[in-house]
Amino acid sequence: MTLPNFAFFKGRIVPYGEAKVGVLTHALNYGTAVFGGLRGYWNDKEGQLFMFRPNDHYRRFLESAGLLLMKFPYSEEKLTEFTIELLRAEKFRTDCYIRPLAFYGDEIIGVRLHDLNPEFTVMAIPFGQYVENEEGSHVTVSSWRRIDDNMIPARGKISGAYVNSAFIKTDAQRSGFDEAIVLNQDGHVAEGSAENLFIVRKGVLCTPPVTDNILEGITRRTVMMLLKEEMGVEVVERPIDRTELYLAEEIFFCGTGVQIAAITKVDHRPIGSGQLGPITAKLRKIYFDVVRGNNPKYREFCVPVYKK
Ligand SMILES: Cc1ncc(COP(=O)(O)O)c(C=O)c1O
Repeated sequence: MTLPNFAFFKGRIVPYGEAKVGVLTHALNYGTAVFGGLRGYWNDKEGQLFMFRPNDHYRRFLESAGLLLMKFPYSEEKLTEFTIELLRAEKFRTDCYIRPLAFYGDEIIGVRLHDLNPEFTVMAIPFGQYVENEEGSHVTVSSWRRIDDNMIPARGKISGAYVNSAFIKTDAQRSGFDEAIVLNQDGHVAEGSAENLFIVRKGVLCTPPVTDNILEGITRRTVMMLLKEEMGVEVVERPIDRTELYLAEEIFFCGTGVQIAAITKVDHRPIGSGQLGPITAKLRKIYFDVVRGNNPKYREFCVPVYKK
C-alpha cells in the first residue's frame, strides 16, 4: 500500500512522516480510539472529487468518540473542512479512502477513559475495491460472536473492538472464504467483519435492527433510502436467523469500503440462483451513480473537494 503524503495532525497539515506517536500512547496500548472510513469518488467528467456524506460520517465519528468520553471543540462541519484541506494537499484525481482517527494520546500506564486527552488526525490514500468478488462472494458464518453492547458497543467504531472483526476476517479467509457473517450473542445475524448486511426473503428486503449489535452504517442508511426512493421497496428491520441466510433469494453486504457486494454462496450453499441477483444488481447501479455525483437528486450528499 502506498503511504499518504500528508496527514492532518495536531491541528495542521504535516508531511505524513511527521505524524508520529510514542509507543506508550494510551490508544496503542489499550485500543482507546475511534475511527471513521469515508470515500472520495473522482468524477472525471466534472474534474471533481466528491466526498460521500462526510457530515453524516463525522456525526457518527463524534458519537463514537462520545462513547469513549472524548470531547472535541469541533463540529462535523469543521472536521469536513479539515478533510477537504487534506485532500486538496494530496491533489487526488482518483477514488480515495479517508481515515479519521480520534485517540487518547497520553503516554501513561493505566487503563481508563477519564482524565485523558483526545487527539484528532486524518489521512487519505488512493483506493479502489475493498473485496475482489463484489458480484459474487462466498462467505461463511463465523464461529466467533459479535461483541455485545454492554461489552464494547458495536454501534461505535471503537478501535479496540476491531480485534473482534480481525478474528472474524482472518479465520474466514484462512478457510478459503471471501468474508464471514457474524452472529450476535443471541445467535441472530449481526453483520460482516466490516459490512452491514441485507437479505431478500420471500421477496422482502430485511436487515438486522440497530439493537442487534451492528455498526450503524451510513451505507446501510443510504441503501434503505435508495431502495425506497428509487425502487419502491421498503426494508424491514428485524432479527434474522442463521438459517434464513441459507434460504434467502439474495444477500448483499454494504459499507463504505465494500460498497455493495453480492453474496452468492454461504457455507457452500448457493444463494438463490447462485449468481448476482436482480435486486442487488439494480441497487449497485443506482448506488455507484449516486456516490460519484451523477444523480442530481442526491447531489447534496456529494461534497466537492476542489474549488471551481
Ligand atoms: C463493523 C462494520 N459494520 C458496518 C460497516 C459499514 O459502515 P459504513 O456504511 O458507515 O461504512 C463498517 C464500516 O466501516 C464496519 O466496520
